[in-house]
Amino acid sequence: MVESVTVKAPCSTANLGPGFDVFGLALDAYYDQIQLKKEGKGIRIQSLDAVPIELEKNSAGIVIKEMARKFKIKTGLVLKIKKGVPTGFGMGSSAASAAAAAVAFDALFKLKLDGNNLVKYAGLGEMASAGSVHYDNVAASVLGGFVIVRTDPFNVIKIDPPKDLILCVAIPKINVPQKKTEVSRKVLPKQVKLSDHVKNLSNASTLTAGFMRKDVRLIGNSINDIIVEPARKHLIPGFDKVKKNALDAGAMGVTISGAGPSIIAFTSISDNPRKILNSMKKGFASAKIECTAVICKPSRGATVV
Ligand code: HSE
Repeated sequence: MVESVTVKAPCSTANLGPGFDVFGLALDAYYDQIQLKKEGKGIRIQSLDAVPIELEKNSAGIVIKEMARKFKIKTGLVLKIKKGVPTGFGMGSSAASAAAAAVAFDALFKLKLDGNNLVKYAGLGEMASAGSVHYDNVAASVLGGFVIVRTDPFNVIKIDPPKDLILCVAIPKINVPQKKTEVSRKVLPKQVKLSDHVKNLSNASTLTAGFMRKDVRLIGNSINDIIVEPARKHLIPGFDKVKKNALDAGAMGVTISGAGPSIIAFTSISDNPRKILNSMKKGFASAKIECTAVICKPSRGATVV
């Protein structure tokens, strides 16, 4: 009888410019690891990292609690969380834990849920940090690659990214509010101009075609969002400079990673990712901000290790 399962889930970038709450891309920069073990009574969280240990305040805890309720599982469970994804920087940290939790629960109790269902359960975890459910990051962390989420009717589509796609991510060392995603969702417009919607929709469509055709250039030059990015960029000191520097250094597209404050540039293996990354660091430095900068590739999804 299986008593314990360990799952590793990747970080992710959401939105990719025009695909707010719809697009996600799993990245191989950081991973969260969750061990789910049958033990004792009730459900407990253990971690050496700075994560909430109350079930309802932890994205993985919410997922396990809800799945146990739904599948009427009364076994005592211990959830050991090892954080690798930086929390609160737009790298899908809460989603990586939530995705690992859903996949671990499914494996431990041999539920054999399909991708859509795993993503739905993992999405519940976003309540803990975003105050609302959205599926872009969790879909990427569960399934890997590039994902498109449609919520009504619910359907997640995964597309394997081109092998030559490279991402440069600059993670600024700034203080972020506790419920950062919730805060950065509050600055968004409630309504948008039809002409703006048309521009974003056309870029979202070419971006999808870029992934279908494995065309890095088409993906990169579709990373263009005129609705969400302008509303959020004031929350990221140095944003305009970082973006301009990266584009001048040859990036094909640059935008906020998820709800920020990280900034992500899209490029190809045949271009110069190192030069782009350094230009982004300089951009933040000109706003007197240090950053952690990483070059990464798309990742596979959550896996039992
Ligand atoms: N799509 C979400 C947002 C991702 O931009 O608010 C945040 O995790």
